Amino acid sequence: MESKLFDLAGRTALITGAGRGIGRALALGLAQHGADVVLVARSEDQLRAAAAQIETETGRTAWVFPLDLEQLDGIETMFAQVLEAAGAVDILVNCAGTTVRGPSEDVSLEIFNRVMRVNLTAALLLSQAFCKHRRQTGGSGRIINIGSLACHAGRPTIAAYTCSKTGLLGLTKTLAVEWAQHHINVNAIGPGYIATELTVPLQADADFNQWALSKTPLGRWGKPEDLVGTAVLLASRAGDFITGQIFYVDGGWTALI
Ligand SMILES: NC(=O)c1ccc[n+]([C@@H]2O[C@H](COP(=O)([O-])OP(=O)(O)OC[C@H]3O[C@@H](n4cnc5c(N)ncnc54)[C@H](OP(=O)(O)O)[C@@H]3O)[C@@H](O)[C@H]2O)c1
Repeated sequence: MESKLFDLAGRTALITGAGRGIGRALALGLAQHGADVVLVARSEDQLRAAAAQIETETGRTAWVFPLDLEQLDGIETMFAQVLEAAGAVDILVNCAGTTVRGPSEDVSLEIFNRVMRVNLTAALLLSQAFCKHRRQTGGSGRIINIGSLACHAGRPTIAAYTCSKTGLLGLTKTLAVEWAQHHINVNAIGPGYIATELTVPLQADADFNQWALSKTPLGRWGKPEDLVGTAVLLASRAGDFITGQIFYVDGGWTALI
């Protein structure tokens, strides 16, 4: 008999940051397991390319909703439009993220607030809209927040990013315990260093590259696809009794002394 443990057929997942990198890989991976997907980011061209790939390779439906998540007052309207188009959203993946690197003593309030808005506040507002919707339908739901090694430890030059990601972990735990009564499971994935556009400056820095590989027992940069298995676990029936957790998918980084 075929196992339905990881089956997402009949579910719809909204993924932010789905135009490229980790979000795009997660959207494709969830669709490969049967979900229809709603793709959100700013670059419409990237979203359309991702949607075309997903529909061609999986036969699932992919809707495209271009939005700058920093514009927080657009989120509620966008979510309502998503519901009109897709009918329901069962899985929310807060993946959109940004960073600005520089000495902490120089980080401006403008940059700090911008990173916090995209990485944390937008995730809160989307989660609120998602919770209201799930409660109206009477159905269960899954939220997956994309954290970071910065949820685990500090690193120089990324103060705003680290605050946003530790905040996202706190939000994950708070919502998990508060919304368990609504049958909404809330978890996070903490990727190690993954080769994407976000980390291009780090990959190009020979010293950083050597340091990152020396800290990663599996000895390589991660690929966006490396995160798909954990996301499917958390989105599917296999994750029914998992909530409030962060799963580091980091090649062993956080296990190394
Ligand atoms: N790569 C890593 O090593 C790594 C490690 C740990 C955690 N992460 C986290 O993983 C997530 C994805 O990162 P990635 O490496 O895949 O980065 P990426 O390749 O730069 O992709 C980031 C995605 O977020 C979207 N985005 C950024 N700002 C946005 C905004 N204001 N409004 C809407 N969408 C926005 C981008 O699309 P547009 O630019 O078109 O808006 C893009 O689709 C982030 O949360 C990041 O912090 C990454």
